[in-house]
Amino acid sequence: MDDKSYQDHFFRKAREFGYRSRSAFKLIELDEKFKFLKNGIKLLDVGSFPGGWSQVVIKKVKNGKILAIDKKKIEDIEGVKFIVADFLEKESKIIISEYFNSNIDVILSDMAPNTTGNKNLDCIRTNQLCLDILDFSREILNEKGIVVSKLFMGEDFEEIKFKAKKYFKKINFYKPNSSRDESRETYIHCAGLNA
Ligand SMILES: C[S@@+](CC[C@H](N)C(=O)[O-])C[C@H]1O[C@@H](n2cnc3c(N)ncnc32)[C@H](O)[C@@H]1O
Repeated sequence: MDDKSYQDHFFRKAREFGYRSRSAFKLIELDEKFKFLKNGIKLLDVGSFPGGWSQVVIKKVKNGKILAIDKKKIEDIEGVKFIVADFLEKESKIIISEYFNSNIDVILSDMAPNTTGNKNLDCIRTNQLCLDILDFSREILNEKGIVVSKLFMGEDFEEIKFKAKKYFKKINFYKPNSSRDESRETYIHCAGLNA
């Protein structure tokens, strides 16, 4: 499928299923593979605008506690608490920690900075966000917790792998079929914090 057909296909599919973004299908595939969306979990969705991933979460997780954060304001989704904030700010992390009482089961991050047109720079900036998520997860995740985060193949990939291996018992990389072939985007799944 060329890029245009790909975009049209997932755009139509998202509309058909009532999802706000095509990214929703990436989370569906990631969950089919790793099965981390379970009833009753406490889940943080970072970089959540326009809300496609949160829509998938709320469909799959009953009686959970869900917090979503983005720099951009998101239209309400019943069952999800949204905050507009920059995840990188210390204050945002304090708000998140207090909301969950430092006790999260799953952290999802689909964060991506605004693209600059410079692929290497975009890659470095996206991967810095992923590294930040890994550091934060050590402070706030349950012992058996899960992190799923976007990253780009390229600069900093080895650093992410090294850090993730150090922090977690199990790590995997997975590129959903709904992620464009040409895109360097992939996702890391990390499970169980090392002591
Ligand atoms: C690819 S979109 C997320 C799509 C979303 N998962 C969905 O399914 O609708 C990436 C988002 O990351 C957000 N973002 C990037 N850097 C951020 C930061 N430092 N703090 C919070 N959000 C951030 C952007 O505002 C953007 O909305």
